[in-house]
Amino acid sequence: MRYPAPLRTMTKADGKVLIYEDIAGVSRAAAEIFLDLSVREAGRKGFFTAVLSGGGTPSVLYALLAGDEFAVSVPWEAVHLFWGGERCVDMDDPMSNYKNARDLLISKVDIPTGNVHRIRAELAPDMAALEYEQEIRGFFGSMNKGGGPSGAAREGAVHGEATPAFDLVFLGLGADGHTLSIFPSTSALHEKERLVVDNYVEKLGAHRITMTLPLINNASCVVFLVSGKDKAGALREVLSGGGGLPARMVRPVKGELLWLVDREAASLVS
Ligand code: 6PG
Repeated sequence: MRYPAPLRTMTKADGKVLIYEDIAGVSRAAAEIFLDLSVREAGRKGFFTAVLSGGGTPSVLYALLAGDEFAVSVPWEAVHLFWGGERCVDMDDPMSNYKNARDLLISKVDIPTGNVHRIRAELAPDMAALEYEQEIRGFFGSMNKGGGPSGAAREGAVHGEATPAFDLVFLGLGADGHTLSIFPSTSALHEKERLVVDNYVEKLGAHRITMTLPLINNASCVVFLVSGKDKAGALREVLSGGGGLPARMVRPVKGELLWLVDREAASLVS
């Protein structure tokens, strides 16, 4: 996998930590990985599946992918976009993770509408989660039938059905160690059977829709993007073993795990 040379690399038990100067460096590395894998997978099996994270951190990445340098080289007709989680708001709400990606990226590149698999978070949360799980299963099922790109769904333990395997997953990190919409001490942390769940988050007083750990951990490549001083404590804790924090539970079974972090976020990591 290709990415720009980091300032420093640390090798941890289950992944690599690449430290860049700032969010621009982190985002450029993420864009290069997206380009590299999308070209490789489009050539190898005809499609490329990427899961986008929520929050504000990926905004610079989206703008970069939509800009002249990357947009012309990404094989958009083969790219399928999914979301790791969504806030339970309308798709035009400023809180919507879909809206952020739509405004900064999707509306600016030639990706077919049918390749954009958003979470319909305007539905009741349990329905939205169920529908999205079906959407994911349906997508991978049809890709496997239509010419069988081997490796699109690996053997897995979720309900005895093969667990879908995304090519690339981007994740964010919350200052409390959450990732996706899996917050500490919430039920989604222990989910073993579903691919997507409705997760009630008491500290937010709100429901979130989130992909689950068995699905994320079946991906071929999982990349965290972490920027800023407010993430330094959580990053240190997660990378040093971090007592059951959600982000620590991301451990791809066969895939690769990369942490793209900036200098400020890495300031407490030794
Ligand atoms: C969400 C995300 C969440 C996010 C982190 C980091 O919907 O909020 O799923 O996991 O990635 O909270 O958010 P920032 O990038 O805004 O710091």
